[in-house]
Amino acid sequence: MTSDGQFHFDRLIDRRGTDSLKWHAPHGRELIPMWVADMDFAAPPCVLHALRERIDHGVFGYAVATPHVEEAVVQWAARHYGWDIDPQWLVWLPGLVPGLHLACRALAEADDEVLVLVPVYPPFLTAPRLTGRHLKTVPLARDGNRWTIDLDALREAITPRTRLLMFCHPHNPVGRAFTRAELAAVAGFCATHNLLVCSDEIHCDLRLEPGPHVPLATVDDGIAARTVTLMSTAKTFNLSGLCCGYAVIPNADLRRRYHAAGREIVSHPNALAYAACRAAYAEGEPWRAAVLDYLRRNRDWLVTYLATHLPMVEMSPVEATYLAWLDTRALGPHNTVRFFEQAGVRLSDGQAFHGPGFMRLNFGCPQSTLALALERLRAAIAAVL
Ligand SMILES: Cc1ncc(COP(=O)(O)O)c(C=O)c1O
Repeated sequence: MTSDGQFHFDRLIDRRGTDSLKWHAPHGRELIPMWVADMDFAAPPCVLHALRERIDHGVFGYAVATPHVEEAVVQWAARHYGWDIDPQWLVWLPGLVPGLHLACRALAEADDEVLVLVPVYPPFLTAPRLTGRHLKTVPLARDGNRWTIDLDALREAITPRTRLLMFCHPHNPVGRAFTRAELAAVAGFCATHNLLVCSDEIHCDLRLEPGPHVPLATVDDGIAARTVTLMSTAKTFNLSGLCCGYAVIPNADLRRRYHAAGREIVSHPNALAYAACRAAYAEGEPWRAAVLDYLRRNRDWLVTYLATHLPMVEMSPVEATYLAWLDTRALGPHNTVRFFEQAGVRLSDGQAFHGPGFMRLNFGCPQSTLALALERLRAAIAAVL
C-alpha cells in the first residue's frame, strides 16, 4: 500500500526486550502496543549522526544550550510558523510534562483555578491538583464528529479565582489543529478575563492537513504577552526518550516567574538531547516531510478500514498528531481496555483523558503493524456483536 521511501518506515524494528515503555509487556503478554505516544520508527539519520559525533567526543559534563541549538530553534520557528523568536525567550526543559507543572506553579497561586478543555492528555488534569491549584474542566463541544471550543461554556466556568488556561494545540487526543479564527477567539477570551495561558504545542509539526501551524502566541501582541508556549522535537522526530523541550516566553516577568518555579528542581536537557534537537531542526525537514506522508497514509487507511469493517467505531478527523480518538461506545459492555487487550491490542483508555467511552489509538507504526492490530480488533468485535 505504501511506498517505503528513503527512510524505510515500513521496516519492522523489534523493540521488545529493549527499554521501550510502549513495548514493555506486562505479564509477558504479546500485545500490539498502540497506547503511549511514541512511534516505532528509527530517528532521522541526521540525528543519529549528530548523536554519534557527540558520543565520540567522549566527555559528558553538565551541558548548556549553545547558540547553535538556539539558532536552530529560532530558524525553525521563523521558517515554519513565521514566528520571530528572540533566543532570550527560551527556557529549556527536560520534558513538557514538567513544563505543564511549572506553568501551574508560576502562572497561578495556590487555590487559583486552572481551566482545561476535556478530553485531554492526562497530565493536564493532574498538574493543577499536584501543584495545589484547582482544576476546572470544560468539555470540548462536538460539531458532528469534529471537536470544537465552546466559548460559552468557558465563559460560564470563569470565577474571580480563575487565573490560567491550559491549552493543547494541536489537541491530544481529539486531533484538532485549531484554526486562526478559533485561536483569535481564545485570545480574546483570555484578554477579556485576564487569564494567563500555557499553550502546549508539542504536536505542532505533525499537521496532517495542509497549512502552517499557527502558534497561539502569534495571534496578536496581547496573547503573546500572556502565554507560555511549550514546544519540543520529541513527537515530530520521535525523540521522546531523549528528554528535551523548551518554553517560549516573550514576557520577561512571566519568564522570570517560570524560571524561578523550576530553579533547582527541574534539570536542563543533557548533551545528547541538545545535539539531537539541533540536528533535527537544522537538517531533519526531509525526514519530517516523509514521516508526515507516511502518517497521512496510515490515517487514511485507518479511516477506510473502520468505515468498511468496523462502522460502529467512529473516528474523529485527525488533523494533526498520530493519535486517533475512537468513539467505541457502541461496543456496549465490551468497551473496555481489557476486551481490547484480550484481542491482542493495547489502547489508551479514554477515561484517563476525561473521555469515558472512547479509546485512543496510536498509528505511528509500520503499516503492517497497524493492519495486524486492526485485523485482531475486527475479529474480536465480530465474535461478540
Ligand atoms: C500534549 C502533550 N504534552 C506533553 C507530552 C509529553 O511531553 P514530554 O515527553 O516532553 O514530557 C505529550 C506526550 O504525549 C503530549 O501529548
